[in-house]
Formats: sequence, C-alpha cells, structure tokens
Amino acid sequence: MMMLPALHFFEFVCVLAAASSLQLGWALPVAQDHVGFSRAAPQSNDLDLNPYANKPRLTFRSDGTFKITVFSDLHYGENPWDAWGPQQDVNSTQLMNTVLTSEKPDYVVLNGDLITGENTFRENSTKLIDEIVGPLNELNLPFSSTHGNHDNEPNITHAEEIRRELQVAPLSYTRFAPSWANGQGYGPGTYWVPVFTKASDDTPSLILWFFDSRGGFSEGTNSTRLPDWVDENVATWINLTVAAMDSGWGPADKMGRGSLAFVHIPPHVVQDLQTNLNSTQDPGLNADELGSGSTQATTLSQDAGKDDPFWTALNAQVKNLHGVISGHDHGNEWCKREPTKNVIFCFDKHSGYGGYSSAGWGHGVRNIVFRSPDPSVGPETWIKMEDGETHARIIMDSSYN
Ligand SMILES: *[C@@H]1O[C@H](CO)[C@@H](O)[C@H](O)[C@H]1NC(C)=O
Ligand SMILES: *[C@@H]1O[C@H](CO)[C@@H](O)[C@H](O)[C@H]1NC(C)=O
Ligand SMILES: *[C@@H]1O[C@H](CO)[C@@H](O)[C@H](O)[C@H]1NC(C)=O
Ligand SMILES: *[C@@H]1O[C@H](CO)[C@@H](O)[C@H](O)[C@H]1NC(C)=O
Ligand SMILES: *[C@@H]1O[C@H](CO)[C@@H](O)[C@H](O)[C@H]1NC(C)=O
Ligand SMILES: *[C@@H]1O[C@H](CO)[C@@H](O)[C@H](O)[C@H]1NC(C)=O
Repeated sequence: MMMLPALHFFEFVCVLAAASSLQLGWALPVAQDHVGFSRAAPQSNDLDLNPYANKPRLTFRSDGTFKITVFSDLHYGENPWDAWGPQQDVNSTQLMNTVLTSEKPDYVVLNGDLITGENTFRENSTKLIDEIVGPLNELNLPFSSTHGNHDNEPNITHAEEIRRELQVAPLSYTRFAPSWANGQGYGPGTYWVPVFTKASDDTPSLILWFFDSRGGFSEGTNSTRLPDWVDENVATWINLTVAAMDSGWGPADKMGRGSLAFVHIPPHVVQDLQTNLNSTQDPGLNADELGSGSTQATTLSQDAGKDDPFWTALNAQVKNLHGVISGHDHGNEWCKREPTKNVIFCFDKHSGYGGYSSAGWGHGVRNIVFRSPDPSVGPETWIKMEDGETHARIIMDSSYN
C-alpha cells in the first residue's frame, strides 16, 4: 500500500502546533491506494476538539466515579431461516436488559461483532442494529461501538452499521474516522470520546479511544478478504490527534487526563501473553488458545507485524493509558500486563448467544469502574455473568503484576 510521505504529516503537525485556531483552511494532495479508494490527506477539521456539540456531555458522577459496561461479540442475525437464530437474539436482548438494569452503567461499549454479517441479507442487514440498540435507547444510555470481522461481509459493512446506529440511537457517540484514516473505507470506526469531571469543565479528564481493526470480507459479489489490523495511517491519526489535544487542552500528564482504549481484535503482541498467565494474578477464563487470526495481522504470515505502527503510536503518544480492551476470542476473559509497552491488556466477555461458544463459557459483560477522575487512581474491572455471578476482579494500576 502506498503511504503518504511522512514529511507532509510532519509539516502538518508543525502548522497545527503554530496555529492559534484549528481553522487552517488548506489540505494536502489526495493519495491513491491499491484498492482504488481515494483518500484525502489530513484536514484541519479532522481534529475538532469539540466533536459532540449536539450531544450531552459525558461526566463522572458527583462521587467521582464513572462506570462502563462492555458488551462484546453480540453476533445478532445468525440463521434467520431457522428458529434458533432469532431465539439467540431474543436471549441476547434479554441479557442486555438484565445486565443494564443491574449494572446501571454511565456508558456502554459494544466492542465489535455486533452482527454475524455472513448470514444477513443485503436489503435488511442493518435492521439488526435497531434491535441491538433497543435496550440502550429505552434506558437513555450513552454508548458507542467498535466493529469486528463479522461486521464486514458481502451484505454489510462497518460504515453501514455506523450510519444506521447514528440514525436510530440518539445517544450513540460512535463517529467516522477521517477518510485518510478509515482503512480504505473498511475501518471507519476510529474515534475518541471525552468524559469530563463536571459538565462545566473546560477540558476532559478521561478519553475513551476506539479503534477499527477491520477484518472480514469486502462487500458485494466479488468479495475479498480484508486486512485484519488497525490501518497503518491510524498511527498518524493518533499522532495528530494527541498533538491537537495537547495544544488545545494542555499535555495529558500535566492536566491529569487519563485514557482507555477499545479495539475488537487484540493486537498481535497479546498472543505471547497466554503462555505466561498466572491465574491468581491474571484471573478469568482462559479457554481459547490463540492462533492464526486470533490477534491482529496473524491470519496470513505475510501480514505479520502490520499492526505495529498502530500499537507503537498508541503506547508512545497516549499518556496515562489505563488499558486496552478487546473481544474476538470468545473463550478468553483474562487481563495481563503487556511487557513490551508496559500496558494492561484485558479481554472482555462474550455477551451474545450468537457466535461460537463452548460448554461452561457462559455469557456476560466486563465492567470497568473509574473510582476517581484522577488518572493515578486505576479503574477496577471484573466480569459479571448474566446470572449475577462476578469474578476476575483486578485493579488496573501500576501495582498490577
Ligand atoms: C436461550 O436461553 C435459554 C436459557 O435462558 C437456553 O436454554 C436456550 O438454549 C437459549 N437459546 C438459544 C437459541 O441460544
Ligand atoms: C446477501 O443478500 C442477498 C440478497 O438478499 C442474498 O441473496 C445472499 O444470499 C446474501 N448473502 C451473501 C453471502 O451474499
Ligand atoms: C431480512 O429478510 C429476510 C429474508 O426476507 C428475513 O428472513 C429476515 O427475517 C429479515 N431480517 C430482519 C432483521 O428484518
Ligand atoms: C466480478 O468478477 C468477475 C470476474 O472477474 C467479473 O466478470 C464481474 O464483472 C465482477 N462483478 C462485479 C459486480 O464487479
Ligand atoms: C508519531 O510520532 C513519533 C514521535 O513523536 C514518530 O517517531 C513517529 O514516526 C510518528 N508516527 C507517524 C506514523 O507519523
Ligand atoms: C502467581 O501469582 C501469585 C500471586 O501474586 C504468586 O504468589 C505466585 O507465586 C505466582 N505463581 C507463579 C508460578 O509465578
């Protein structure tokens, strides 16, 4: 794939840093990549620091806490021609209602594979989004989504799911990445969401980051396999976004701004963590042996390491990063510190009745509770099962293994 020349990005950062406002009014030439999508180069308004002018501000509670509940791998829409497919979705919706009523989160994340796209029909694939967001709409809960390999199939794309979600869910905070960072159109769900200590604050104290790891197949009759990693250009997006935040709000470490990241397919470095798990320190189900396709850029050997630019930029640029949360491997729930970047990685929990499973894995969610807006106080996280049982509790701070 042809990358934009690095010099352009460097110039852009310099201009950005020098500009007193973000109204730069100039653009770089358009680049063409191998699948023929034209990708406009970075534009000043790609880095808008107030992207939710028309939505309520997300804030910590008055007691200083903020609770996130993560539903993962819901896999709606399997075999609509059989009774069991729709029944799975009835079960998954019931799980969502049960969990949301008991957990009362401040924010909900749908961490990819919302829909099993290979079983859906061109004419009504995104109708399943209406069903999935129903419980969130009913309870007026703010939320956003990442998308997975099953959300890109001949009859559905990540972009279509996002468009539908924004149409039918008033409190969706999902956004589109700028065109030059959208993974040739198949990875549009890269964005960030700010959380403020108080609604009247000038700057946020927590940034939730969402990355699109693509995967699956392109749309249409001549469908081909898509890259299953966060696009290399997202590294530049991270650099520019962090530079804009630091210049507009002050540096994250000085301002006490924390971060937490979500991406459906785990980064490939996670594969090496599994052999050294200690079930006391790194609790949670460990039933899904990681192999080809379990983590980013491991399906085809020639793709090895292609998620490195993303992983390096995320960990180098985003300060006070509490952790990275992924789904995709339904039999895993564990957390472990990733030693190369010294960052905590956690699997979430398979929530949907659709998607592969095995006896005893069950269904549930991962909760993440920030106990303070102060980023030196690590959030607490644990798995909550549909039947109310909880396990695998850890504190995501510097004392964690
Ligand atoms: C739906 O959930 C019930 C238990 O509540 C279970 O017995 C049944 O097998 C589930 N159906 C499907 C299709 O997953
Ligand atoms: C896609 O949708 C079309 C039209 O409904 C249908 O004929 C086809 O079987 C679906 N599935 C795939 C994988 O193309
Ligand atoms: C979509 O259309 C198919 C075929 O007509 C039908 O079986 C299925 O139930 C529909 N799905 C939704 C979500 O409306
Ligand atoms: C799909 O590929 C075939 C063979 O390359 C080609 O003849 C056909 O026009 C293509 N169809 C579409 C819809 O692009
Ligand atoms: C991001 O910035 C770092 C240093 O600030 C630099 O080393 C790296 O090359 C940049 N990455 C991209 C993709 O621009
Ligand atoms: C596993 O972790 C526990 C608790 O930290 C520790 O006591 C034990 O020595 C560890 N086991 C191994 C094999 O490292």
